[in-house]
Amino acid sequence: MRQTNMGCSVHRTLVTGGAGFIGSHLVERLLANGDAVTVLDNFSTGRMAYLDEVKDNPRLSIHHVDVSGFADIKPFFEGIDWVFHLAALADIVPSIQQPVTYHKANVDGTIAVLEAARSVGIRRFVYAASSSCYGIPDEFPTLETAPIRPMYPYALTKYLGEQYVLHWNRVYKLPCVSLRLFNVYGPRARTSGAYGAVFWHRSWLESRSRWWEMGIRQGTSLSSRMWLMPLCRRRNLRPRARYSTSGRATHIASTVW
Ligand SMILES: NC(=O)c1ccc[n+]([C@@H]2O[C@H](COP(=O)([O-])OP(=O)(O)OC[C@H]3O[C@@H](n4cnc5c(N)ncnc54)[C@H](O)[C@@H]3O)[C@@H](O)[C@H]2O)c1
Repeated sequence: MRQTNMGCSVHRTLVTGGAGFIGSHLVERLLANGDAVTVLDNFSTGRMAYLDEVKDNPRLSIHHVDVSGFADIKPFFEGIDWVFHLAALADIVPSIQQPVTYHKANVDGTIAVLEAARSVGIRRFVYAASSSCYGIPDEFPTLETAPIRPMYPYALTKYLGEQYVLHWNRVYKLPCVSLRLFNVYGPRARTSGAYGAVFWHRSWLESRSRWWEMGIRQGTSLSSRMWLMPLCRRRNLRPRARYSTSGRATHIASTVW
């Protein structure tokens, strides 16, 4: 944390995957909270356009870099307080076709980010894990204690990443939490390709976006799906991550918003 010349404290936050769907909303939110934000992204699926609204903010710096290269990313961690590690290849079908590429981004990338975070002694490390680790669960609602059954390389690599995160907490006392996100939807979500168990229909998604813009709070039961804005705002990732005990994997999901 840094003191500004006004005497206020500014969190220095680093977001990997900050040009992606969830990451770009999180970056907007963190900037609105007054944080200084560093984005690391290789733009494989992320878009600079997703950060259009905030790209001129002097508290934002954006770096085109692959997180799996420890030496490349380490310099960006100097002075960082909080790390949100969202960078990952996040589609299912390509993960079946390119398991090694997915392992490099999602597992090697996570180890590199953990090591960079450890080297500077960050205050909080938040990992975006995935509910895909359960495969098709036996029970709904599903508890964190449900059997782990990854059914494709994406799910496996995200779970391996989580295991590394929790291991770094146990062995190195890195203050980590792993948030198992369920299916997130909202503006900028990919509507092509398959994500998770959900095949979004573009017009359906767009109509949800319009509802949100009109300020109508939808309260339908959505089983495991999660509307993005509550994720970043009402149930802000930061407080949720702060209140979750270090070294735990915890669900981020809701049936009713
Ligand atoms: N969207 C969901 O419903 C959902 C559900 C569970 C978990 N998650 C997790 O949340 C995170 C964000 O997902 P998203 O839906 O926003 O996906 P996304 O593809 O929009 O964002 C991922 C970002 O990571 C970047 N990236 C990928 N590989 C990288 C690498 N090697 N180096 C640097 N940057 C890299 C991409 O360019 C992109 O900007 C992912 O870790 C994903 O596994 C998402």
